[in-house]
Amino acid sequence: MTPDPRQAPVESSSAESPAELARSAELVRLIRSDIESSPARRITFADFMRRALYEPELGYYRGPSARPTRTGDFLTAPETHPMFGWTVARRIEEMWSELGRPAPFRIVEYGAGSGTLGLSILEGFRHHGADDLLEAVRYEPVETNPYRLADLRAGFEEAGFGERLDDGSLTPTATSGAAAAGGTASAGSVPVFGVLLANEFLDALPVHRVLFRDGALRELFVSWRGRFVEVVGEPSTPGLAARLAEDGVALAEGQVAEICLELEPWLDEAAALLDRGFGLILDYGYEAAELYGPRHLAGTLLGYRGHRVVEDPLTDPGSIDLTAHVDFSAVARLAERRGLRIVSTTTQSEFLVAAGLEREWQSFRDSARLDAPEYLEARSGIVRLLDPRHLGGFRVLTLERRGP
Ligand SMILES: C[S@@+](CC[C@H](N)C(=O)[O-])C[C@H]1O[C@@H](n2cnc3c(N)ncnc32)[C@H](O)[C@@H]1O
Repeated sequence: MTPDPRQAPVESSSAESPAELARSAELVRLIRSDIESSPARRITFADFMRRALYEPELGYYRGPSARPTRTGDFLTAPETHPMFGWTVARRIEEMWSELGRPAPFRIVEYGAGSGTLGLSILEGFRHHGADDLLEAVRYEPVETNPYRLADLRAGFEEAGFGERLDDGSLTPTATSGAAAAGGTASAGSVPVFGVLLANEFLDALPVHRVLFRDGALRELFVSWRGRFVEVVGEPSTPGLAARLAEDGVALAEGQVAEICLELEPWLDEAAALLDRGFGLILDYGYEAAELYGPRHLAGTLLGYRGHRVVEDPLTDPGSIDLTAHVDFSAVARLAERRGLRIVSTTTQSEFLVAAGLEREWQSFRDSARLDAPEYLEARSGIVRLLDPRHLGGFRVLTLERRGP
């Protein structure tokens, strides 16, 4: 099985609340009707994943339940401890200085969720005494889930950052069909002078599944045989073989792999938006040679529910998070083609250490108000953030668009 970036145990049951089960049943009906109305009675895995994650009100990322929280399905780095965001804030402070301390300074966060990272970044500016930056900053979330956006707004107000938030000008991205479903077209059109952020966003974009069999590339489609099953067919688009060729990858006989063709439209959008400044992409994934290498012969698709990996990711669509590791070679190549410069590609632990996690930890530890549980929680958070088998092994790609 794929190494699990969230280090969750495996579950085989499908226990869920009645409301969740009813939503999932409705989604099953919709996906079955997609399958039954298609000529070959099958759909691509990307189409399955798009419905399962993004169908309005029914999809995993469109419903009211909070996902990356302690009681939700997984913990992302910013949810692990605010020290993560405070450290990212340090790096953004450097970027702001490198750019000549512009005001306004826009931070656009793709897949902002309920704003945990955005809030801790702004808190970081406050802790570090970066008052001029705090004054200049405009934080703009791009989030497809209206419930999460409402949480985000409330959190910013509560923390006294309401005036720094601009959640009116950007809309869900054109990728994932999320925008189409919401009746909107793109993330925005006013050129950004600042930073584009994406933490655990790209791994949630729909992927195609392929299989290399008898010396040829095939695609794994989703069909219905009393339950959702995978069936093999000719690739639905030449884009799949083209991506592997550009990655310089040859799959092994019998190998299964995921390919995210939505990277292109997302990078089109993000690169067009970023007029001057930096892009910071943080996620689990690898360079193509490793992602498609012998350690991942079964692919990297995983389904999560309640901090557990589910055995069959095709069951209970809408109540399971579906995710695949990111092809960082493709992201970097596609970004360069759109005129962005690669500043660095590192592991998350290297990134955090270089950005000043140690100093952040020291000042937090020395804080007079710290009690024992807070201390222990922070210490275990740091271990998870730096652990190369866990959050520390995530990748961080820093991009730059220089001014004229
Ligand atoms: C795994 S969560 C990460 C949330 C947050 N970045 C964090 O690290 O805690 C992914 C987030 O991306 C959002 N999302 C996924 N696809 C999106 C899209 N196409 N446009 C905007 N938001 C999207 C989801 O609703 C969800 O809140």
